[in-house]
Amino acid sequence: MHADLAEVMIGADQVAARVRAMAMEICRDYPADAAHAKGLVLVPVLTGAFMFLADLVRHLPHKIRIEVVTVSSYPGASTVSKGAALVGVLPKDLEGRDVLIIDDILDSGQTLGLLVDEILKRHPRSVRTCVFLRKQCSRVREVACDYVGFDIPDKFVVGYGLDYDGFYRNLPYVGVMRTPGDGCNAESSR
Ligand code: IMP
Ligand code: MG
Repeated sequence: MHADLAEVMIGADQVAARVRAMAMEICRDYPADAAHAKGLVLVPVLTGAFMFLADLVRHLPHKIRIEVVTVSSYPGASTVSKGAALVGVLPKDLEGRDVLIIDDILDSGQTLGLLVDEILKRHPRSVRTCVFLRKQCSRVREVACDYVGFDIPDKFVVGYGLDYDGFYRNLPYVGVMRTPGDGCNAESSR
């Protein structure tokens, strides 16, 4: 375990097994057949979703397009999310597509809520949401998640893509930070 962590919450083996199982759930809902000939559009939220995405897609046999988006956080050392804003433009050509939004963690709900709203304006055939972690906390906005890796307690976690101040994304497991404030709606550099 990294010295800056208080505990490992989810080990690397557990992560790998769950991601594989999530891919099977996705395959059940989106058969990779002629009915889905246009393929799936995955919309991962950078930067936190990069590792989850990379592992997940290797278990998906579909014809897939990956269209990354960035959602801004607020500068400074705040650990409370004050909102979410899209950076840049949404991918074009979502009309009639099956879109699956991928994020590292559902916290306040503002990031996913914003993306669902914006993507729906593009008239996709369907929009679903897939998060690696879902924090048990009161949300600014309730967002339904179609695929959830793990429900976790209201603690600030890092690893497997998640950061604190830009660090620890590379850890292959999920751990709890030793120092920063625990709590809901924590903000990092996304
Ligand atoms: P929200 O659901 O809009 O509050 O935003 C979720 C985003 O906040 C995630 O995509 C993460 O980038 C970040 N975030 C929330 N909680 C944590 C955490 O415990 N550790 C690291 N990043 C977090
Ligand atoms: Mg994020």
